[in-house]
Amino acid sequence: MRNLKKDYTYWNQLTKSDIDDNIKQALNENINYYDELIMGIPGSHLDENEFGKETNVLNGSTYLQVLINNPNHIGVHTLGKFEPYFKGTHKLERDVINVISEDILDGKAADVDGYVSSGGTEGNLQAIWIYRNYFKSLNENSQTRSEYDNTCIVCSADTHYSIDKAADVFNVNLKKISVDNRSRELAYEELKVTLETLQNKGTKNIIFIVNMMTTMFGSVDQIGKIVPILKASNLNYKIHVDGAYGGFLYPFTIENPEISFKNKEITSFSLDAHKMLQAPYGTGLFLIRKGYFENTKTKSASYVVGKDYTLIGSRSGANAISIYKILFNYGPYDWQEKMLNLVSRAKWFYEEIQQLNIESIYFKGSNIIAINQKHITQETASKFGLVSDDSKNPTWYKVVVMVHVKRAKLLMLIQDLSDHD
Ligand SMILES: Cc1ncc(COP(=O)(O)O)c(C=O)c1O
Repeated sequence: MRNLKKDYTYWNQLTKSDIDDNIKQALNENINYYDELIMGIPGSHLDENEFGKETNVLNGSTYLQVLINNPNHIGVHTLGKFEPYFKGTHKLERDVINVISEDILDGKAADVDGYVSSGGTEGNLQAIWIYRNYFKSLNENSQTRSEYDNTCIVCSADTHYSIDKAADVFNVNLKKISVDNRSRELAYEELKVTLETLQNKGTKNIIFIVNMMTTMFGSVDQIGKIVPILKASNLNYKIHVDGAYGGFLYPFTIENPEISFKNKEITSFSLDAHKMLQAPYGTGLFLIRKGYFENTKTKSASYVVGKDYTLIGSRSGANAISIYKILFNYGPYDWQEKMLNLVSRAKWFYEEIQQLNIESIYFKGSNIIAINQKHITQETASKFGLVSDDSKNPTWYKVVVMVHVKRAKLLMLIQDLSDHD
């Protein structure tokens, strides 16, 4: 037995009431979405219907019951074989995957596999892992410097840094294509030249990331212009959609969205539930057409019935239940209404600041307004909790219209902007 120390610097036993007091004090030191001016981040308090301050969430909601029962959702439950112990909540996770793949992203649920990930980063990493291995199996006999050297990720300069992370983790090359300063559209000529150069240097496979709303601008990549360039290059390619931001918004605010499972060019999506859906942090989704998960099957996961295909391994079933509760509580019509409401508030704000000649960027169907830094003082940024594209050298600050960013708060910002201009 280890002889424990007589004194510990950080660790001692506390009473339950002291622990509770410490947590309450910590919460008081955090920002409070309900009352404060926090307008720059795509986050909010938990969904007000499922987890509202006055509901029964604190005394026995089914979400908390699941959390306490602690089902493990390890693995991918759409693949047919999985752990029997938690089959009840696994089924509800499959219901969630079915809703998203068919009723939100316009695919056929029977053709899609998926799981509840920890968020957008994991979904993006999972995609890169799958395609990297898929292309490796295609080019089994090719002679390259390293195993994955003939594959390259290509995406716009506005793409989220989780793709840089994925390139690093999975040892895959990455090329980012410039975007237009205003339209945030890819420089298509540069894309063509980059593909040619890559090909000349031995690249055979492209993992292309299409953004369904970028983090900073809410811009959506024009897949209809990108695919012909990919096709013309004669390189193998697979398209993953980063819908971490737009997954629960764009399909409801844009008529006939070009980005959905209806588009055969798209193979996979990642979505976040802890942004627009206001589910607890650590909740997102990864969806992919059937047949691809085999590329990340860890055969040595011998104790897991049905094996494991995911990055995360063990994960809480409560995350899937939070999505289940929110999606089925709203249903499609009320959900759309909620999203349209945010978008209409965002558009109203954009139009108001246009009248003040504030240089800003806003895309139809989005809830993000990016404002040029020349209009934003340090005081304004910190007073309204605005987030910049680059904390050291900002060009744009964004306002993200989440549920708690009400018109009254936006009016205060409009007043502030007009005072400083
Ligand atoms: C477009 C996009 N992709 C990926 C991510 C990463 O998501 P997460 O922080 O949930 O891992 C974000 C987060 O802001 C995002 O906006």
